[in-house]
Amino acid sequence: MSSKISISDSIEELSEQFVQLLVNGLNERKEYFHIALSGGSTPKSVYNYLSENYKSRIDWEKIKLFWGDERCVPPHHSDSNFKMATEYLISRIDIPSENIFRIQGEENPKEEAANYSNILLANIPAHESLPEFDLILLGLGEDGHTASIFPDSLNLFNTDAICAVAEHPITLQKRITLTGGVINNARQVVFLVTGENKSIIVDIILNKKDGFEKLPASFVNPDNGEVNWLLDRSASSLLK
Ligand code: 6PG
Repeated sequence: MSSKISISDSIEELSEQFVQLLVNGLNERKEYFHIALSGGSTPKSVYNYLSENYKSRIDWEKIKLFWGDERCVPPHHSDSNFKMATEYLISRIDIPSENIFRIQGEENPKEEAANYSNILLANIPAHESLPEFDLILLGLGEDGHTASIFPDSLNLFNTDAICAVAEHPITLQKRITLTGGVINNARQVVFLVTGENKSIIVDIILNKKDGFEKLPASFVNPDNGEVNWLLDRSASSLLK
């Protein structure tokens, strides 16, 4: 596993760095490129940059879109990661609808976790009998969570399940999430982290400070892949 840290002065620069990682990955793959999108708010500006500047410069037909996690809400709900990606990216690019694999947050969580696991197995080449994403985009919570693996569910890094039902520790909102095994089976993981409010957790994780070993994002170590941390100046302000 190789890990790189890039610090950008602007969201445009950070977004362009992400796009270069995406394009390089695309160019290396002859067949489809399988990417899991992240939710939350950080990716909005990156998706916006992508759709505004690369609408006609990327062969979207070569990309299959999945999600790293989804809130258990309908697709039109304001919390929906699918809704956010549709608003900032999907509705602005020419990607075939058959290339979009939405987690059905409106369905029974346990049933959808099983259903989406089967969808991943059926649509993504496997490595070591797990779906092997070409790129998994991740965010980072202030508590060190990533995807929807929260500190109280580190067991999701030690399960054979491909997707699992998770629960936000404060709101108790149910989520569907990729498990740690699938995340660590990816060819590439890209963390997008911005904002002063993430500086402490970034410092703890990247400098392995006290308690880092209890944080889900610390367990992201793809066996045969690379991790790229794309940070802005604020999120990296405590790194030396
Ligand atoms: C989600 C994400 C989650 C997110 C972090 C950071 O569904 O919310 O998967 O892991 O990336 O919570 O969220 P922000 O980008 O909003 O800070």
